[in-house]
Amino acid sequence: MKERLEQLKEEAISALNTVTSGQMLELLRVKYLGKKGELTAILKQMGSLPAEQRPTVGQIANRVRTIIDEAIAKKSSELEEMSMANRLESEALDVTIPGGEFQFGHRHPMTIVLDEAKDIFIGMGFDIAEGPEVELSYYDFDKLNIPITHPAREWTDTFYTTQDESVHLRCQTSPVQVRVMEKKRPPIRVISPGRVYRKDEVDASHSPMFHQIEGLVVDRGVTMGDLKGTLNLLVSRLYGENTKTRFRPHHFPFTEPSCEVDVQCVVCGGSGCRTCKQSGWIELLGAGVVHPKVLAGCGIDPDEYSGFAFGIGLERMTMLRYGIDDMRLLFENDMRFLNQF
Ligand code: PHE
Repeated sequence: MKERLEQLKEEAISALNTVTSGQMLELLRVKYLGKKGELTAILKQMGSLPAEQRPTVGQIANRVRTIIDEAIAKKSSELEEMSMANRLESEALDVTIPGGEFQFGHRHPMTIVLDEAKDIFIGMGFDIAEGPEVELSYYDFDKLNIPITHPAREWTDTFYTTQDESVHLRCQTSPVQVRVMEKKRPPIRVISPGRVYRKDEVDASHSPMFHQIEGLVVDRGVTMGDLKGTLNLLVSRLYGENTKTRFRPHHFPFTEPSCEVDVQCVVCGGSGCRTCKQSGWIELLGAGVVHPKVLAGCGIDPDEYSGFAFGIGLERMTMLRYGIDDMRLLFENDMRFLNQF
């Protein structure tokens, strides 16, 4: 029996030497020291020994258990150390390596120009108003004095979202004028930038989605002269002191009188080029004195108050600012283009 114990010890020790994982180690522990393990099996036979041999064999058995126990504990801490060393190596982080280059983005050219325009208008005491892009025809047409027969109300021009033509993607920012006048009493000074939609084919100067900045001023004694002064200030701030403007008579149902405003072509300086179609001028916006019917429709007495309004094309404004000759560039997100701003 003593030999069996010695043999068991040798066997266990050499088995432990081949262990490479915690799982293997646990299997061996169960095999040798577990309740159904080999040492227990030997000890169960103690009963068959002569009484005088039992103490010595018992002692040897205990010693063997201790030795195997200690060998297991030693192996276990070796394994732990090894796995720690492995982890340290594989998860090593060199904080002294220089960081990768970080690419900063920047504002889109239209955002740059819009922010400038906002600053200019805020400097003149304007607030910024917002309105929905999915708009009621009531606000975009009816309240703006746009008759049911107006071509802008055709399905070929406007993106209706309901069969009864009561809702559509707004085709101008002018409905915000009405929304503001319904809620606020004069003096009113607001601009309202945003997206608008028209059924236009994409080309160098058209897109079915583009942006406008609407402007509205209502107070006592507001005239066309105030409109000219305000827009001339905007133009000189954006394009330089000496930039010329031209106010051409035009027609809008919601302003009377109405005009379109051109800016002298920044590309050729007015002598005529491809960008201005040889005219020397580029159309920037529509404007006018708010129609008395529109004021009255919003509960503002046209005998007491008057106002002016304008709608500027933000794409145009940006193209003029940077001499961009194709509107598509503004929407294509080509980094070679955008990186220039
Ligand atoms: N809403 C007009 C357009 O889109 C522009 C405009 C705005 C004209 C305000 C007059 C007054 O063409």
